[in-house]
Amino acid sequence: MAMVLEAFVKNFAGLLTDYVAEEGAIQLGVKDELQKLQEQMMNIQCLLKDAERRKIESHKLLADQNPESKISPVCCNFSSFFSCLASVPLRHEIGNKIKEINKRLKRIYKNRKQFNLESLTESETQVPDDSRLTSSMASPSDVGREVDDVARRLVNHLVGENVDEKCRIFAVTGMGGKGKTTIAQKNFNYPKIQTFFNLKLWVCVSQNQSGIESLKQVISGVDRRCRDDSTKIELQGIVRDSIVAGKSLFLVLDNLWTASVWINWLGIPLIESNVTVRVLVTTRHKNVVVDMRAVHIHRVELLSEESSWDMLCRRLFSAKEVELANELKELGFKIVQRCKGLPLAIKVLVSVLARQERTKCVWHDFLQNDAWSIKDLPDELSGALYLSFEDLPTHRKQCFQYLSLFPEDTRLFRSDVAQLWVSEGFVTKHERKLMEQLAEGYFDELLKRNLLLRNSNFEDKFELHGLIRSLASSIALIIIIFFATISNPMFMIQIFD
Ligand SMILES: Nc1ncnc2c1ncn2[C@@H]1O[C@H](COP(=O)(O)OP(=O)(O)O)[C@@H](O)[C@H]1O
Ligand SMILES: [Mg+2]
Repeated sequence: MAMVLEAFVKNFAGLLTDYVAEEGAIQLGVKDELQKLQEQMMNIQCLLKDAERRKIESHKLLADQNPESKISPVCCNFSSFFSCLASVPLRHEIGNKIKEINKRLKRIYKNRKQFNLESLTESETQVPDDSRLTSSMASPSDVGREVDDVARRLVNHLVGENVDEKCRIFAVTGMGGKGKTTIAQKNFNYPKIQTFFNLKLWVCVSQNQSGIESLKQVISGVDRRCRDDSTKIELQGIVRDSIVAGKSLFLVLDNLWTASVWINWLGIPLIESNVTVRVLVTTRHKNVVVDMRAVHIHRVELLSEESSWDMLCRRLFSAKEVELANELKELGFKIVQRCKGLPLAIKVLVSVLARQERTKCVWHDFLQNDAWSIKDLPDELSGALYLSFEDLPTHRKQCFQYLSLFPEDTRLFRSDVAQLWVSEGFVTKHERKLMEQLAEGYFDELLKRNLLLRNSNFEDKFELHGLIRSLASSIALIIIIFFATISNPMFMIQIFD
């Protein structure tokens, strides 16, 4: 929570700088007090950086040591301060309120020792370089032997079984982040698949995707066109005709949430086409594959502790560092245990560990990090995923949360996202660099941290994994609640009770 306030205080201090320079402040006779307020805000911002580092709850700090107060008096005053500014007749009151806020901030700053807080500047909170990531044993595409084995077996089922049925459905199931899409991708690019099928298509079916959109995806996948207002029957006709032209189709339906997309929409023209169709579905929901009558289901297993350690080790240590890796193995096992066998969790955790020294002492402290025990998030988002968010510098945190505004499975382009971040004011000016360049740097940092992933089919497109998107939106929601609290103190009482 301290990071939320840090960003808020920073923005507010910026607003004050502008306001102090304006005519209004002079007319209201509060220029000096506003300047003082601005200075206090800068001081508090440095304390909040330290609070963020030590995970001291911000409401505790801002409650201004008033034992009877459950709400933050400073925050309440901020909100009334904003409303005061809009109301010119209340000049006298405005001056008094600013003075009052100044006094409170001064008291908080003076009592910083009670919280063991130090003033940290921006440079002191910057994260170390992560160059180690580039020299690890594994390439980013290296996903372990298990995945290769599973993919090979699945391909043999897909192409090997000589049956009369023209259309057969195969499925890969498991919770988010387990590696379903990864297995499907391996299959999709397998040489046997290329030679066996005339046509192969990848359709990503996110939670809110309609049947119409799925049909349109297939149509554009086979380079055919349709009108925006085409009816279901017309679209199904185009799909059927374009498939009939080929002799066989391999179709991946990735991330399917409901069987009805197949049963009521895609399945009808594909079955009618009477060509050999093999569908590989990935889904979190077991009932989807039952409803679709899949003939073969592969349930993705969680990684064993040994495989988890192997995955982490291959990304953190070079071939020459076997001794160091062995030295850290015991602590490393404890760390990967917390990822509960989820490859996605290990992947983001590696990016955090890569920024730290590889010593027993540092890894021991890493296990004690408070972020492991955050309670306000659903199970699958807490632990490693939340810790990787916590590890981001303040500005990148805002940028990351912003990504949750894009619908699931949106393909993101670096320059588009960078421009949006700049226009939202998330990028801090730097002497010689263009804001867009800086924003693209932020984008690359999220990529390096695996909070953004490169789309395996398109080099220049990126995406947010479904679980990571849920993390970003859950945190954004907590922040919205926080700001709702600032403008309505009763809301805050309910939360802290
Ligand atoms: N066995 C594995 N070894 C290493 N990395 C893996 C493995 N399985 C998946 N991953 C990585 O974990 C991330 C999440 O996998 P993904 O296939 O998208 O999961 P799902 O589709 O089940 O949500 C991907 O970035 C992928 O590269
Ligand atoms: Mg997936």
